[in-house]
Amino acid sequence: MPASRYKPLVDSLTADIRSGRLPAGTRLPTHRDLAARERIAVVTATRVYAELEAAGLVSREQGRGTFVRDLALPAGHGIDQQAVAGDVIDLNFNYPSLPEQADLLRQALRDIAGSGDIDALLRYQPHVGRPRDRAVIAAHLSRRGVPTIAERVLIVNGAQHGLAVTLMATLNPGDVVAVDALTYPGFKVLARTLHLDLAPVPVTGAGTDLDALERLCAARPVRAIYTMPTLHNPLGAVLDEASRSRLVGIARRHGQLLIEDASYAYLAEAAPPSLAALAPDLTVHVSGLSKSIATGLRVGYLSVPGALVPALERAIRATTWNTPALTATIACRWLADGTIDRLEAHKRDDATRRQAIARDALHPLHYVSHPASYFIWLPLPEDARADRIAATLADRRISVSTAEPFATSNHLPQAIRLALGSTDPSTLGTTVRAVAHTVELDALQ
Ligand SMILES: Cc1ncc(COP(=O)(O)O)c(C=O)c1O
Repeated sequence: MPASRYKPLVDSLTADIRSGRLPAGTRLPTHRDLAARERIAVVTATRVYAELEAAGLVSREQGRGTFVRDLALPAGHGIDQQAVAGDVIDLNFNYPSLPEQADLLRQALRDIAGSGDIDALLRYQPHVGRPRDRAVIAAHLSRRGVPTIAERVLIVNGAQHGLAVTLMATLNPGDVVAVDALTYPGFKVLARTLHLDLAPVPVTGAGTDLDALERLCAARPVRAIYTMPTLHNPLGAVLDEASRSRLVGIARRHGQLLIEDASYAYLAEAAPPSLAALAPDLTVHVSGLSKSIATGLRVGYLSVPGALVPALERAIRATTWNTPALTATIACRWLADGTIDRLEAHKRDDATRRQAIARDALHPLHYVSHPASYFIWLPLPEDARADRIAATLADRRISVSTAEPFATSNHLPQAIRLALGSTDPSTLGTTVRAVAHTVELDALQ
């Protein structure tokens, strides 16, 4: 097709999509039908759709066709922490906080203000944190099934920072990292920023498909495996003990680093041993207090093989120099005096209660979750469309996430994730019922 005809077709479809003449969710003709209608070659129709896809105007779904995307949702919706307007009910981001926490913070600040070493908080700190704080965290982790010592603990500015310095210190651009086909969006963004090559592995409510991981590792030079064996985000999976041993065996055979993200692990009581306990020499264990205590504290920590400490220390120096001593002090006081244990137990109860509310509200829709998790993965019925549902809910001032931020493979499942931790529990049932209703109506369109 001459450029003079090819471009006008792209332009007219673009104009129709942007003006709303072709509304979000519209299924476009097959390549063959478009070719017949426009009297062009099929290969040209494919090129037209590829251009619309590259412009973010349509999405292609294997076996289902090409659909107009919803432009009302900004690209990357759910990745970028946009401020959620005050009148929006947020089922997108999780920042679980209990009413008593504000008072606890006031008290901690008063105690610190009255303590003798307040000047010290104004100075630079050791990059990896102060020795006594590292010792408090090491004792906490050891009690939680991550046997470690202060010298192998590094304090970071949140788990996301912990992941960033781990990748910076251990991998090079182009290195292959195995990840679940649905994973924590922050890891995806980070790996792309560092030009790593993410190799997706299928994952279900039972955890990573280890047969598929074996095949991947046999075929490609995988350098590291990023995994959430205890309370996977977004599926809530807890990997069983035999699978953990097998995962460690794979990493050992191939000389790979295991990056174990335990950000939500506190919600799953009596989980099998951590990877850091099974293979302390191969595992960087990443966790923090965002999901158990408060996102705003920005305190996370790593327990790492001793040999990695110097490289990680350099990466912390290069990024933040040190985690602010004020927040580290608050966190370590709460770790040492049992406040964190108490708050985490309350949050497990809170999450369990919220799951029960959501379960009733979603009935009879099928979903994937853990009974004490702060989120739910809701695969959609045949013919329902996630971005259309998210847009309809956004009009009703309810914010949810589609699968897009979580997906690492080309196959984008039609599913939405509901975060249950940020909404007032007294309205959660009504809100989740509104979601269920919207899903059911959408499937009929
Ligand atoms: C699995 C997982 N890892 C890491 C993080 C980042 O946590 P932080 O706020 O401590 O940086 C999150 C936040 O949502 C998460 O869900």
